[in-house]
Amino acid sequence: MSIAGRIEVVKDLETLSVQAAELIADHMRESEGPFRLALSGGNTPRGCYHHLARLHQLPWDKVEVYLGDERFVPPDHPHSNYRMIRETLLKNIAPRGVFAIPTDGTPQQTAHAYEEMLRQQYGGSVLVAGQPLFNLQLLGLGEDGHTASLIPGQPVLQDHTHWVAAVPEGRDEPRITLTYPALESSRLILFLVSGAAKRDVLTRVRAGDPAFPAARLRPQGEVVWLVDRAAAGA
Ligand code: 6PG
Repeated sequence: MSIAGRIEVVKDLETLSVQAAELIADHMRESEGPFRLALSGGNTPRGCYHHLARLHQLPWDKVEVYLGDERFVPPDHPHSNYRMIRETLLKNIAPRGVFAIPTDGTPQQTAHAYEEMLRQQYGGSVLVAGQPLFNLQLLGLGEDGHTASLIPGQPVLQDHTHWVAAVPEGRDEPRITLTYPALESSRLILFLVSGAAKRDVLTRVRAGDPAFPAARLRPQGEVVWLVDRAAAGA
């Protein structure tokens, strides 16, 4: 599927958060068997996680939570994506599994360990078309066109072999990220984009401009962009 996917423009970040939570919930309810949900970090999805945690009667016992990327900091650090997800989503709910990206050892060891765990959950070491690793992958978009921690200019952009990689440079702290093949192996990719500062990059990524890492994703499944009016320019 093309990265342009389908776009839904909503009034503001609050509406975007509610709609994102409802869309994720619908997919959870409809899925048969385990529901593998990969979450993103940053600020935009906080409200979505908050709402998702408050929706009633969701089948959390079949949901496995994964992370699309992590900052290489201890799990209680203010920059930790896992900490943000714990505080917003996981306070009062108990999914069938929560697979945080560990941040002990070295970034390379961590990436390797997370990849091994994903392979075990997937039940194979080769990603098969038509058999996606994730049911739903939530992603954000940075002003520089990054998504997850596919950061412009970093060697991870050329890694089409591993599922998880360390990104030692390019940000204040090292990052651990799913690579293109792992991100692309999802039944649905849901991008959440908010704010006027993202307007230009949103247009260019959806047009497939390869200068932006997010535009180089070749998703196997459906792509939905849930964006607010400020980001859409509408
Ligand atoms: C992270 C991310 C990252 C994020 C974008 C957009 O750990 O920072 O997962 O890829 O999604 O930076 O973040 P915002 O939506 O908060 O701008």
